[in-house]
Amino acid sequence: MVIYLHGDLGAGKTCLVRGVLNALGYTGRVKSPTYTLLETYHAGGFDLCHFDLYRLQDEDEWESAGFRDEFNGVNVMFIEWPEKAVVPPADLIIDLEILQAGRCAVLKAFTSIGQICLKQL
Ligand SMILES: Nc1ncnc2c1ncn2[C@@H]1O[C@H](COP(=O)(O)OP(=O)(O)OP(=O)(O)O)[C@@H](O)[C@H]1O
Ligand SMILES: [Mg+2]
Repeated sequence: MVIYLHGDLGAGKTCLVRGVLNALGYTGRVKSPTYTLLETYHAGGFDLCHFDLYRLQDEDEWESAGFRDEFNGVNVMFIEWPEKAVVPPADLIIDLEILQAGRCAVLKAFTSIGQICLKQL
């Protein structure tokens, strides 16, 4: 499934992915894919791909890096700054907003699998 993470710089997108991985039992280091653009983890019985496309140069870089192949219908994809490329459509979009204390998260489902996820929360 594909999850877009929207929110300003520092809104907590990477922290949210770290929290998801921790909840799945992943105990290794979760670093921001700021420069690598993609970090992949195996947790909870599947591969979780964490993209940060903020520094993506252009559409060609997205295509030549082979990122599209990762969208195989099995992996779970979290994407920061998805508007930087033409990425597959989202099942779920999470909007993060910085508040004085903590963050506000608004979750919207766009497919039936997204709706199933929201119902589980
Ligand atoms: N829910 C939260 N409550 C309080 N502080 C938070 C929360 N989530 C993240 N932070 C803090 O905000 C800072 C930035 O978080 P993070 O790196 O996850 O942002 P980001 O949205 O991924 O930014 P970028 O777009 O630069 O990658 C971190 O120092 C983190 O401690
Ligand atoms: Mg980040």
